Amino acid sequence: MRLLALSGSLRARSSNGAVLRSALAFWDGPTATADIGALPHFNPDLDGEDATPPAPVAALRTAVATADALLVVSPEYAHGVPGVLKNALDWLVSSGECVGRPVAVVTASPFPTGGAYANAQLRETLGMLSGEIIADACREIPAVGPKIDPATERVTDEAALADLRTALSHLATAAAATPAAPVTSERP
Ligand SMILES: Cc1cc2nc3c(=O)[nH]c(=O)nc-3n(C[C@H](O)[C@H](O)[C@H](O)COP(=O)(O)O)c2cc1C
Repeated sequence: MRLLALSGSLRARSSNGAVLRSALAFWDGPTATADIGALPHFNPDLDGEDATPPAPVAALRTAVATADALLVVSPEYAHGVPGVLKNALDWLVSSGECVGRPVAVVTASPFPTGGAYANAQLRETLGMLSGEIIADACREIPAVGPKIDPATERVTDEAALADLRTALSHLATAAAATPAAPVTSERP
């Protein structure tokens, strides 16, 4: 089974990037991370019936369409979802690749809240895209800083690692039980 990850942080030494890499290590199968930083700003004019989507958009859609599960890992900015990640999800609204795909949402923050606002908003948006939100696979990771080894840029906190392993296990179970839905190209 193939897992596609999306990170809401473009930062080189991102703590969420470290969480993402650590989580991927628990996936038994091929993994890939989408390059959402390359996407243009969403513009419906570029996405109509007769339009050819920009190449990074087509690449994202293919990556989602061929994934058995999605892992979204993100920081929270201003009590919300980072613009780069919301932009990526906007490109997936009308093309249908998320329909029926099991999704885990993980947010990590230096603060005790663990990015709870962004986590809830991501679940809402991905649910609107008809992704299958796997609640048991979603996590809010508070006070993430000391849980990461800056040298390896991986999670080293044992409890956090065990929890990530459990989350990925729930996602894999859901992916195994959920045949990927056919991709539709219906547009509103
Ligand atoms: C503009 C800005 C807004 C932020 N807003 C929040 C916030 O609302 N909630 C939160 O938990 N952290 C917030 N943070 C702190 C981020 O969680 C922190 O910078 C984190 O390290 C970013 O994730 P990354 O390490 O994966 O890049 C904010 C940071 C910035 C730069």
